[in-house]
Amino acid sequence: MVAGNWKMNGSLSMASALSTGLLDAALPQSVETVVCPPFPYLTIVAEALRDAAIGIGAQDVYFESDGAFTGEVSTTMLTDCGCSHVIIGHSERRALFAESDEAVGRKADAALTAGLTPIICVGETLEQRERGETLAVIDAMLAAVTAAICNVADAVIAYEPVWAIGTGVTASPEQAQEVHAHIRGFIRNLDAGQADRTRILYGGSVKPGNAAELFGQPDIDGGLIGGAALKAEDFAAICRAAVTD
Ligand code: PGA
Repeated sequence: MVAGNWKMNGSLSMASALSTGLLDAALPQSVETVVCPPFPYLTIVAEALRDAAIGIGAQDVYFESDGAFTGEVSTTMLTDCGCSHVIIGHSERRALFAESDEAVGRKADAALTAGLTPIICVGETLEQRERGETLAVIDAMLAAVTAAICNVADAVIAYEPVWAIGTGVTASPEQAQEVHAHIRGFIRNLDAGQADRTRILYGGSVKPGNAAELFGQPDIDGGLIGGAALKAEDFAAICRAAVTD
């Protein structure tokens, strides 16, 4: 599975052009692909990709169903706009918008209840890695979210080391694999049957040139792509790197 996180980038015309580019790029059928445009462009991208096997995801959602929550968007609104997926707990939301582990859990639960697939992000900062806290940080984030949802295999987990996001510094395949194997082990301890069914994506400076090696690791099931998802050809090349024979 490969998901593209467009973040707060683009314009109406860019969203249309990128959608057309994705249609022309003929993404591989055997890889589940998802694009996550900003809220205002969800409908137009969903419309443009209606006949393509490309999922549409939002970059966040609120856990309440409706009411006086100015600026927020509900799961029903997302499904109305053609969404199948939603990114939850991205490190930018955790760091810049004070999103708590508890909120991440409630959002993931609300998404699953609405039939959306949450792509739940976890990852450590550079300071935490240097202090040797990586696995403990991941465990705490996973514990909070798995306490809030029933079937973790219905969600997607994205391991995104904060120090690798948008920096050009990718985790080495070995560094990523170590954390991915740990995440799968965490899920196995909760429910052995779900561990192998749960998709665990790697995110953080994935590019066409490094994707195949990352995706070749046993516990890396695909990627969550930021910058490289803004170019249809790069995104398509990364999707092709996820094809397994
Ligand atoms: P990047 O972003 O690929 O630009 O590093 C990844 C992400 O934040 O999901």
